[in-house]
Amino acid sequence: MCGIFCLLSLSPTQFEWDKTVYEHLKRRGPNLSQDLTVRSTIPCYQCVFSAHVLHLRGLLTPQPVEDSRGNALVWNGEIFGGVPVMLEENDTAVVSQRLSSCSSPAEILSVLSTIRGPWGFVYYQKAGDYLWFGRDFLGRRSLLWKFDAEVKALTLTSVAVHSAGPVASAWQEVPAAGVYRIDLKAVSEAGCVTFEVYPWAYGENDPFYSCPQTISESVPSGCTAVINRSGLALTSPVCPLNTSLPESLNEEETHPNAQPSDQDLEQLPAGTERGEAVNRLIDVLSEAVRRRVQALPFRVQDDSPPSNDNASIAILFSGGIDSMILAALADRHIPAHQPIDLLNVAFKLQVPKKQKESAKKPVKHKDKPTECNTDGAESQTSSPFDVPDRITGIAGLKELQHLYPERSWRFVEINVTTEELQKIRQERICHLVHPLDTVLDDSIGCAVWFATRGAGFITEDSGQEPFTSSAKVILTGMGADEQLAGYSRHRVRFKTSGHLGLIQELAMELARIPSRNLGRDDRVIGDHGKEARFPYLDEDVVSYLNSLPVWEKADLSLPRGIGEKLLLRLAARQLGLGQSAVLPKRAMQFGSRIAKMEDHREKASDKCTRLLTG
Ligand SMILES: *[C@@H]1O[C@H](CO)[C@@H](O)[C@H](O)[C@H]1NC(C)=O
Ligand SMILES: *[C@@H]1O[C@H](CO)[C@@H](O)[C@H](O)[C@H]1NC(C)=O
Ligand SMILES: *[C@@H]1O[C@H](CO)[C@@H](O)[C@H](O)[C@H]1NC(C)=O
Ligand SMILES: *[C@@H]1O[C@H](CO)[C@@H](O)[C@H](O)[C@H]1NC(C)=O
Ligand SMILES: *[C@@H]1O[C@H](CO)[C@@H](O)[C@H](O)[C@H]1NC(C)=O
Ligand SMILES: *[C@@H]1O[C@H](CO)[C@@H](O)[C@H](O)[C@H]1NC(C)=O
Repeated sequence: MCGIFCLLSLSPTQFEWDKTVYEHLKRRGPNLSQDLTVRSTIPCYQCVFSAHVLHLRGLLTPQPVEDSRGNALVWNGEIFGGVPVMLEENDTAVVSQRLSSCSSPAEILSVLSTIRGPWGFVYYQKAGDYLWFGRDFLGRRSLLWKFDAEVKALTLTSVAVHSAGPVASAWQEVPAAGVYRIDLKAVSEAGCVTFEVYPWAYGENDPFYSCPQTISESVPSGCTAVINRSGLALTSPVCPLNTSLPESLNEEETHPNAQPSDQDLEQLPAGTERGEAVNRLIDVLSEAVRRRVQALPFRVQDDSPPSNDNASIAILFSGGIDSMILAALADRHIPAHQPIDLLNVAFKLQVPKKQKESAKKPVKHKDKPTECNTDGAESQTSSPFDVPDRITGIAGLKELQHLYPERSWRFVEINVTTEELQKIRQERICHLVHPLDTVLDDSIGCAVWFATRGAGFITEDSGQEPFTSSAKVILTGMGADEQLAGYSRHRVRFKTSGHLGLIQELAMELARIPSRNLGRDDRVIGDHGKEARFPYLDEDVVSYLNSLPVWEKADLSLPRGIGEKLLLRLAARQLGLGQSAVLPKRAMQFGSRIAKMEDHREKASDKCTRLLTG
């Protein structure tokens, strides 16, 4: 992941930018920082580019890349397909070369449409004076913008600064609804900024296709966005969602409260159709994982003996089905001698005073450990960090060790105390989550930050040892629930509005992943100089899941722990996973218990006061 920045100024005077932003960018790209200024007097504008590179593949390529024609590129992305990138090549250079050979907008859009993988970029096209920028179809990389009318300056950046004070922040996420082009000649004459938007076109048959209405809401004040009537657009890298409804409606819940076991999955009538779908899903997911674990820094002698026992891949790991499947597939594609780090985060359970005093009777319930560790046996099961995700994580680890005994699976227990959480939230996380600001953004932002930092303990024969994961690439299960109906709200929607309601809910959720989750997660994870990769959001995986009718992906007439993400659960069984295949979804803020640490009365969608800086 890299930190990219561009300041476009229409005023002829020099302009200083906020160096605090610079510090945040540098954490994203610790390996090389460089600036480049492009100036033009007629028309009058200047662009300051700043790029901070995290070196992940090929040879280290300095950015901004300037080609022989004077075009400039800052690129925060990763090519996993569509455009060939050889093992020793750097994808930034490949993109720059491709863009250099373009002259018309149609050609630029064609290059961007071809790329498979996450990206955010800013590109200065010298011929004709244009500035292009945008994010990939799913918004897997962050890009923020703001316009300062006083000095006539537009800023684009991967990450911002949340400044204290009464003035509302001007930062907003650039909507991942298309790419944008600024005609620098025109705006310098007009003195105000207009973006031309080239939207992602899903195809006419998608009933949920809505022209990017959302863009106008997010355009910085003082700027305008226009959609070019020529109809030029980017071609969506995924096919539209299959909206077929089943012929025979099976919308009754049969046994909603039953406790599922992994036997139940075997008893399902595994029609040949579903069997095929399960195999296809495993194939596309496996390929998505392969691309993501193999595109790593190029080593001159890759066949050198395994002297290095540092993992190059880590997995954000709760022991739930999404992360278990990623681990199982990663095992296929990473040489057996390399360890894989499993990052498991837990927030310290607060024990209210009252409960402490009245805790004479030992509370047996595993979810609610207390601090009454009077005898040794009790303390075994009552660490304040024994949160639900820790318990399922340990169970998941055992399954993996059993299935893949040759691999060293390093289960990193990341225990976070209230004090540390409060300190880091104020110092760092509030800036990274910004401009998002809800209680949910706070919980997930903090949980993801601590988890991906990777600093905790591993258990060795000699006992617990402090350990910090050195893996620069982190796989996460993001996107599985949104596509395969994993959340309890899907069950609610299905109950009230049947299959049609469920399809509408899934379409809406996939469309809002960029604005709800991915920009934020990219900013949070990038802060460690690490890169998140999302196999469930690989274009081929999304396309395959979109092509299936909803009833193949989930069957919400079946009980919790079976019916949601049914197809994925069947895939887990096929891969040999056991009890983890039938765990009901537990959202990270509850699984890690961070939500428990805070005010219980607040709602997830409330603005989070803890994110405000002093
Ligand atoms: C990039 O920077 C990180 C953090 O400083 C360091 O661990 C890593 O070795 C660097 N990589 C290269 C190729 O220089
Ligand atoms: C980046 O890759 C290109 C080939 O695509 C190569 O010519 C160039 O030397 C590489 N950059 C660096 C700094 O090695
Ligand atoms: C729309 O795009 C075409 C082709 O690039 C360009 O010639 C035209 O000026 C654009 N129209 C507007 C209103 O910007
Ligand atoms: C492994 O990681 C540790 C901690 O990040 C680092 O100090 C050490 O140099 C690394 N070892 C190798 C062989 O890269
Ligand atoms: C972290 O939490 C686990 C409980 O899940 C506990 O066993 C372990 O001792 C804790 N480690 C530290 C260093 O706090
Ligand atoms: C949607 O699913 C149905 C049922 O499997 C299938 O017949 C149809 O071809 C699919 N539609 C698309 C556009 O893939």
